[in-house]
Amino acid sequence: MKIFLDSTNIEEIREINKLGIIDGITTNPSLIAKSGKGFNQILKSICKEVKGPVSAEVTAESFENMLSEAKILSKISKNIVIKLPLTFNGLKACKHLTKKNYKTNVTLCFTVPQAILAAKAGATYISPFIGRLDDIGQNGVNLIRDIKKVFSNYTNFKTKILAASVRSIEHVTEVAKAGADISTIPPKIFHQLYKHELTDKGLKIFLEDWEKSKQKI
Ligand code: E4P
Repeated sequence: MKIFLDSTNIEEIREINKLGIIDGITTNPSLIAKSGKGFNQILKSICKEVKGPVSAEVTAESFENMLSEAKILSKISKNIVIKLPLTFNGLKACKHLTKKNYKTNVTLCFTVPQAILAAKAGATYISPFIGRLDDIGQNGVNLIRDIKKVFSNYTNFKTKILAASVRSIEHVTEVAKAGADISTIPPKIFHQLYKHELTDKGLKIFLEDWEKSKQKI
């Protein structure tokens, strides 16, 4: 499974990217607004830091304006992926942009039929929002499982499943078990992934025993 960071915080992205295991970045209009910086500046610095795909979302709702915004966003860097909402116009723009060789990420997906339409429109990625489904009492991970099952029935569906709105370590475990191609993870959750109290406890004991042995490597 690939790991993307779901963030516009360049300091946090830089720090985690030092591990060399981050495959890409997702952003959305709320995250860009939260960064307090201009979209151009923030996306430029993210694309400079991370060489993998960086999703940048259009904010227009009409087909024509989505295309104009896609053109502007794609000029920021060659690793920009155009993120489009799962609306009638978003799907239409996805089909159009796919034909023109743009990479696309169709976002705000909450059902299997929505994912099927995005795949038919040639989306590079489909982003099912699992945490937001959990928020309304549904099971977000089940949606990943169902989309995976449906996509595996049809070899012509090339769209990658990008599990989004990931809120916990359990989410990461479950979407990996369900076969998500990518999980996009907020930095705060990412830093929980490598931690375990038994790791800390075990390391403390090893280091104490080593100290007692008076050896040096
Ligand atoms: C993904 O592309 C979205 O930016 C993100 O995962 C949304 O997460 P949220 O539901 O926690 O806001």
